[in-house]
Amino acid sequence: MFAVAIDGPAGAGKSSVAKAAAQELGFVYVDTGAIYRTIALHVLRQGVDPHDAPAVEALLPAIQVGLEYTPEGQVMRLNGEDVTSLIRTPEVSMATSACSAIPAVRAFLLQLQRDLAEKNNVLMDGRDIGTVVLPHAQLKVFLTASAQERARRRVRQLEESGQAADYEAILRDIQQRDYQDSHREVAPLRPAEDAVLVDTSQDSFARSVERLVGLVRERL
Ligand code: DC
Repeated sequence: MFAVAIDGPAGAGKSSVAKAAAQELGFVYVDTGAIYRTIALHVLRQGVDPHDAPAVEALLPAIQVGLEYTPEGQVMRLNGEDVTSLIRTPEVSMATSACSAIPAVRAFLLQLQRDLAEKNNVLMDGRDIGTVVLPHAQLKVFLTASAQERARRRVRQLEESGQAADYEAILRDIQQRDYQDSHREVAPLRPAEDAVLVDTSQDSFARSVERLVGLVRERL
C-alpha cells in the first residue's frame, strides 16, 4: 500500500486539495479531522465540557465511530447515525480542537486510522499523520498558507454560499485554533522531519492539486 500523510493548519485547503488529488490518483482520501469532529459532536450532545479530559474519556467506550467511502466522499457515522453534515458547525470545530488535545481521545482513534492505511492506498489528512499515525508513509506533506490568506479564502467561501462573513473574526478564530493545535502537549501540529513543505499562499487551487499529485507520482 502507498500512504501519503498530509498535515497542516486549519483552513490551508488540505481537505479540498487532498480530495481532488486522491481522485486523480485513485487513492482513498481519509479526512481524520472528521473523525475527531464526530467524537466532539457526541461530547457536546452529552452536555460534557470538551476541556474536561476525565469526563470526555469516560464517554469514549460508548462511542462507535463508523466510516464509509461513497462516490460523494467520506460518510461519518456516530453510533450508526449519519453525522457527516452535523460535524461542520463552528461550535463543533472549537469543541474538536479541545477534545483532540486529550491523550485518551488520540489513543482511541489511532488504530482506526492505521487500519484504513493498511487496507487502502490513502491520502490521509490531519495534524499528526506524518509524525504519529503513519510515521512510515512513503510521502509526507506539510501543506500550509498564511493565516491571512486562509481567512480570505474562508470569507470567499462563505460569501459564495450566501453567508455573511466577518474577516477579522475569522482571522482571530484561525489564529486561536492554530495556537491551540500547535501548543498542545500531545501530538502538536508540526511538520515531520522528512515532510515536504508546500505553502499554497500564492497558488490557485488547481496549482496546489497539481503540486501534490506531482509529488506523489515522483514516488510511485
Ligand atoms: O481538519 P479539521 O479542521 O476538520 O480538524 C478539526 C480539529 O481536529 C482541529 O482543531 C485539529 C484536530 N485534529 C487533530 O488534532 N488531529 C487530526 N489528525 C485531525 C484533526
